[in-house]
Amino acid sequence: MRIHFDDTNLRAEMVGDAHGLTGAEIREFTPRALDALRGFRKLSEDGLYGFPHLPFQTAVAKEIAAYAAEVRKSYDTVCIVGIGGSALGAWALDCGLRGPHPVQGEFSAAFPRLVILDNVDPSFVGAAIESMNPKKTLVVVIAKSGSTAETVSTFLIVRDWMRRKLGDKAGRRIAAVTSRERGELAVIAARENYRVFHIPDNVGGRFSVLSPVGLLPAALIGADIRKLMKGAAEMTHSCWRENLDANIALRAALFHYLAWVKKGKTVQVAFPYSNRLWGTAFWFRQLWAESLGKARTRSGEEIHSGQTPVAALGATDQHSQVQLYMEGPNDKLFSFWAVKNFGAAGHIPRSRTGLESFDYLAGRSLTELITAERVSTAAALTENGRPNCTFTLDRVDEAHLGAFLQLLEFETAFAGELLNIDAFTQDGVELGKRFTFGLMGRAGYETYRERYENYQKKRQKVTV
Ligand code: PA5
Repeated sequence: MRIHFDDTNLRAEMVGDAHGLTGAEIREFTPRALDALRGFRKLSEDGLYGFPHLPFQTAVAKEIAAYAAEVRKSYDTVCIVGIGGSALGAWALDCGLRGPHPVQGEFSAAFPRLVILDNVDPSFVGAAIESMNPKKTLVVVIAKSGSTAETVSTFLIVRDWMRRKLGDKAGRRIAAVTSRERGELAVIAARENYRVFHIPDNVGGRFSVLSPVGLLPAALIGADIRKLMKGAAEMTHSCWRENLDANIALRAALFHYLAWVKKGKTVQVAFPYSNRLWGTAFWFRQLWAESLGKARTRSGEEIHSGQTPVAALGATDQHSQVQLYMEGPNDKLFSFWAVKNFGAAGHIPRSRTGLESFDYLAGRSLTELITAERVSTAAALTENGRPNCTFTLDRVDEAHLGAFLQLLEFETAFAGELLNIDAFTQDGVELGKRFTFGLMGRAGYETYRERYENYQKKRQKVTV
């Protein structure tokens, strides 16, 4: 497994002092980065944050692999019901390991389809259910809280669909991933005999991809989760190294933090040049946004921190976003995600057409072209004083993906420590959720309904 991080184009020598990091700035902040690592390691060793331990929980992986082997070939579709951190990891893994939809190949019991119900758009849920055969579907409902409105409502629909078609046997076709002691998903799972896997209490949703939240869907679609864990374990060891050169996660966290707080780069564009990493870009968008967008520091000072993550796909988005990136506000940092070996070169036929704009490509390959496009975009951005960096994965397989996901989680945790914020909470999403509960008539949330009604009254008084 090899992942490389090239930070050259983040430096002042390449993009100028106003936008790039000087040697003096890097030297000044290196001790703070090392303190951030030590602080986070202490919290992790004390058991407060559990994601660094996940790659070493081999008993859990064995239990999941045994379950996957037991049910294998009895389904051609795995239907995930979950949202946010309970869905995006499965999507990143499926997209990474089997290629992007809709070009994954023909689905069968040996190569099951993954359907992720992560939204309550009625036409989406209806169409998805319509497309599945209940006798050949395995449902996995995932919710750490066990009570998320979107997940519970969709699950009630899917459960009813399964029960109508399969009667009492429906419970055998449903697995639940939830907390051990918390929430009512565990209650219904016990009542209806679902197979249950637990999410450790000290692992938050967006950091849970290497817990059963991501491992179970991955194993059910045939991924080798041992290799995933092995890659992540290897990366974990290097993420604890107290050496900026050897520790990519720490170096990336420090450089991204400095570009953000010292050079005003308030937007980070995650720019994979690989369709297989497109799902990971969306997973990362949640990780970076929800973890680092915080109102207050740990000591209670108002900070309103946050670097807006944007997902762009190379080379596709060169034709939709790069104009803005080159000439718009210089408030962005670009993180290219490159892949060395795509598994297929994509040979372009050698035969010539006699047409100048066609023939220079004859005999070349798509790998050469996508690589040329990426390095050219990096060069053009650099020439325009736009800081950028590149993570390169040798290939996208279980080991590299496990390692890359773990690297990005560590980077996020270290950035949180540098900012002195708690990267593991998400209080900001609570108010909207409570209004929804109030509007949907959940007991105990009446005051939120009243607050919502007051808000509506205020709106009505606004004259146009
Ligand atoms: O990162 C998080 O904690 C959140 O995004 C959750 O994953 C999301 O809100 C879903 O929560 P739950 O798993 O409880 O349904």
